[in-house]
Amino acid sequence: MDLHQKITELKKQKNAVILAHYYQVPEIQEVADYVGDSLGLSQKAAETDAEMIVFAGVHFMAETAKILNPDKKVLLPDLMAGCSLADSCPPDAFSTLVEAHPDHVVITYVNCSAEVKALSDIICTSSNAEKIVNSVPKDVPIIFAPDKNLGKYIQKKTGRKMLLWDGACIVHEAFSMDKLLKLYKEHPGSKIIAHPESESHILETATYIGSTAGMIDYVKKHPAEKFIVATEAGILHKMQQEVPQAVLIPAPAEEDNTCACSECAFMKMNTLQKLYDCLLHETPQIEVSEEIRKKAILPIERMLELSK
Ligand code: 13P
Ligand code: SF4
Repeated sequence: MDLHQKITELKKQKNAVILAHYYQVPEIQEVADYVGDSLGLSQKAAETDAEMIVFAGVHFMAETAKILNPDKKVLLPDLMAGCSLADSCPPDAFSTLVEAHPDHVVITYVNCSAEVKALSDIICTSSNAEKIVNSVPKDVPIIFAPDKNLGKYIQKKTGRKMLLWDGACIVHEAFSMDKLLKLYKEHPGSKIIAHPESESHILETATYIGSTAGMIDYVKKHPAEKFIVATEAGILHKMQQEVPQAVLIPAPAEEDNTCACSECAFMKMNTLQKLYDCLLHETPQIEVSEEIRKKAILPIERMLELSK
């Protein structure tokens, strides 16, 4: 049996579900029960009746699944799979900001630690951020953390002035404007689509801005076109599968690297072998203290409720 078959057998035996993000390597996406964006993955984690969740994504995603499922084993193939954006918001510093603004509602992007979630009022993802911000009465001030690029984009969309945390994702800040414009000239008539974690000058070039799932849906609606895709390159696998006739070109990164695009080193830490090993040995597991979990679940549940 190859690894794919072994994983399929093992997950049946153990009544496990494999949830994977679009940025995972293709072979992991192929073995997963569900591949989605951060909101879809949280929703699946909230509703699964499997006994065990194997999260093929990064730490904050698996941690969110654990917060929602304290009695289930939640496994992450590589515990070192972190997130630069989550790391840009240390809980102590964030707590100081929150305490200094007791009149503000705290909306936090899901890319953050459980401790930061525990300090928040509502969690959001890139697919529901606008809706979540609009759910707060207009006269109530908002702290938005940790992604300043998503925050700026939502400020513009909603007309709300928000106090922004100065965090960012290294993968989405790696796109080169000069190379993007050069590529666009080489492909006249192509459409640029971008994830809102990208910087505003990149977003200004885009015909569509949305979450990973939103970007895939947009391409599905315009199957015969050519797209320059400004997000982590792992998305191209599912996008091309869904829309085989579309021409997809990854947006170029500033640094010359092997893929000439932008890849998330954290997402790529998970491999099919590590996925198999973690399912077999039921480790590494995600743990969240009950004290933090009880506080962190409230803003996640508010998000899930507002996203129905
Ligand atoms: P979404 O899949 O929710 O768009 O998020 C992208 C991302 O950067 C996940 O880390
Ligand atoms: Fe974090 Fe960026 Fe990687 Fe997403 S792509 S996991 S935001 S570092």
